[in-house]
Amino acid sequence: MANTWFETVAVAQRRAEKRLPGSVYGAIIGGAEKGLSLNDNLTAFDQLGLAPHVAGLHAERGMEVEVMGQHLSMPVIISPTGVQAVHPEGEVAVGRAAANRGIPMGLSSFGSKSIEEVCAVNNQVFHQMYWSGGRDVMVQRLQRAEAAGAKGIILTLDWSFSNGRDWGSPWIPEKLDLKTMIKLSPQALSRPKWLMTYLKTFTLPDLSAPNMAAPGQKPPAFFGAYYEWMQSTPPSWDDIAWLRSQWNGPFMVKGVCRVDDAKRVRDLGASALSVSNHGGNNLDGTPAPIRVLPSIVEAVGGEIDVVLDGGIRRGSDVVKAVALGAKAVMIGRAYLWGLSINGQAGVENVLDVLRGGIDACLLGLGKSHVNELTPDDVTAPDGFFRTLGV
Ligand SMILES: Cc1cc2nc3c(=O)[nH]c(=O)nc-3n(C[C@H](O)[C@H](O)[C@H](O)COP(=O)(O)O)c2cc1C
Repeated sequence: MANTWFETVAVAQRRAEKRLPGSVYGAIIGGAEKGLSLNDNLTAFDQLGLAPHVAGLHAERGMEVEVMGQHLSMPVIISPTGVQAVHPEGEVAVGRAAANRGIPMGLSSFGSKSIEEVCAVNNQVFHQMYWSGGRDVMVQRLQRAEAAGAKGIILTLDWSFSNGRDWGSPWIPEKLDLKTMIKLSPQALSRPKWLMTYLKTFTLPDLSAPNMAAPGQKPPAFFGAYYEWMQSTPPSWDDIAWLRSQWNGPFMVKGVCRVDDAKRVRDLGASALSVSNHGGNNLDGTPAPIRVLPSIVEAVGGEIDVVLDGGIRRGSDVVKAVALGAKAVMIGRAYLWGLSINGQAGVENVLDVLRGGIDACLLGLGKSHVNELTPDDVTAPDGFFRTLGV
């Protein structure tokens, strides 16, 4: 049997590129416009260095933390992504992997599996929502998430429907009928291993959004749900405060980059915020989250959980973010590459790669636990950090 294990996320990404149809791989890479933010999310981590010790190191290192009332075996959370057409088990495989490795999972409202299916395999699910459909619909979705057993809500706000890409966006069909299957067949046939994972389960990629279904209705098509969201009036701060008041549990606002917004999120009673630019998929030119993290931690980090989301590809990235004040990080593409090539085991492989990298950094930095990390463990070039909204 072929060796499916990989030693870094970069290796997993290379294998995913070979395995996935071009349009699926392209949809994961994404990035808005010229890809400035997408690239900055990665290069910013490259610009940060580490300041190691060589003796007095610790034989045992700990990395467990608590975020949004949940215990994390390491400071990593699965960020919500819609994983249509990546793997037939989709978010259920991700949920199992996260549960096996002891970390929470954000489930996208545009995910391919329902909140009920994912909560059945993972008891640390945060349900992610966009502001779509107005207050009545939002309350229905909160009630559904609560009934399913979600432990928290992630409200994602960093999306401005800026979808053009200089390299050309992949074509994604509205549904998989005979006509679209014929159109896509050259791509699918050129990726036989990917195709076989579906054929073995007698399924086709699911292009619906089950978590956007109204009570008693069948799941809408992905683009139907997207259209509902596009047509919805963007929320005011009052709307967000109102939504928070409707959920009796941990509540995260995802997508914050500015200090003034971070303070508003704290003031409306959120338990957490994620510093994020949607993986470079929102407004192009938004700085990498790691550049604005310290300013946001300084403003609100003592009062709510601040997590870093964007650009994490190795354990040392996690350590850099925690040293600069994040309670934990969220990961997106990293686990999608693992899922693409080896389902649940591939996601577990990614999480093990990150854990190993965090541990090696703690050893080298002379720490016995992630909570001992400080900004002094990280080197940054002049002008690296940004402060927005002060
Ligand atoms: C293919 C893809 C789909 C995504 N879908 C969602 C989504 O449905 N909801 C959401 O809040 N964020 C979504 N995101 C953003 C991720 O949650 C996360 O913020 C981003 O991937 C972090 O950057 P990274 O990929 O560099 O880790 C998506 C990202 C990707 C790559």
